[in-house]
Amino acid sequence: MTLPRAMILKELGLWPRWRLREERPPEQEEGRAQTVARMDWDRLTHAILQCTGCVLHQTRTQAVPGAGDRGADWLVVGEAPGAEEDARGEPFVGQAGRLLDAMLAAIDLARGENVYIANVLKCRPPGNRNPSPEEVAACLPYLLRQIELIRPKIILALGRFAIQVLLGTEDPIGRLRGRVHDFRGIPVVASYHPAYLLRSPGEKAKSWEDLCLARRVLAQGR
Ligand code: URA
Repeated sequence: MTLPRAMILKELGLWPRWRLREERPPEQEEGRAQTVARMDWDRLTHAILQCTGCVLHQTRTQAVPGAGDRGADWLVVGEAPGAEEDARGEPFVGQAGRLLDAMLAAIDLARGENVYIANVLKCRPPGNRNPSPEEVAACLPYLLRQIELIRPKIILALGRFAIQVLLGTEDPIGRLRGRVHDFRGIPVVASYHPAYLLRSPGEKAKSWEDLCLARRVLAQGR
């Protein structure tokens, strides 16, 4: 009988470590999520930077944990790092990021001052393709821990992907924006992703409405 190559390599301890991690059984995934849920900022950042929890670590330049004020009222959640973010290790620093800065400035906010910016995925999907469910499952514990540590007063979810992951829904962004949702007791406002606004500038008025809604919710302490 010929044993499969993978089995032989595993027996010999030669099977690549990332392969073993990708094949973690669900109970091990759960254990990892519980470990992440207890991390402080230093351990969390280290874990993200060293993460090999999904295939994306093979193609990233570096992981992008998030950036900003860790005691912020505002948490902005995007989708995943793009090429510039992957190169620089900071979220939203490309063209979409410059638009996000302008959007924040319009409501008297500045990156790093009372705002924390994070993504659902901490590593860039090659060619900016859509994240896979496995990648989201592997990465989500990091965002959940960031939310727990920051305890923001408002979450601004940018784009279909961020809001769908937070709310566990597949509803389109057009139906989810314009109202206040709840994520574990924290109000969440969804709006269009800045990259979409660059392609569809006609939607900027709606994005402005969403920003004003978020600001109102925060002011009312809802
Ligand atoms: N798009 C995102 O969703 N996040 C980034 O950090 C950059 C672009």
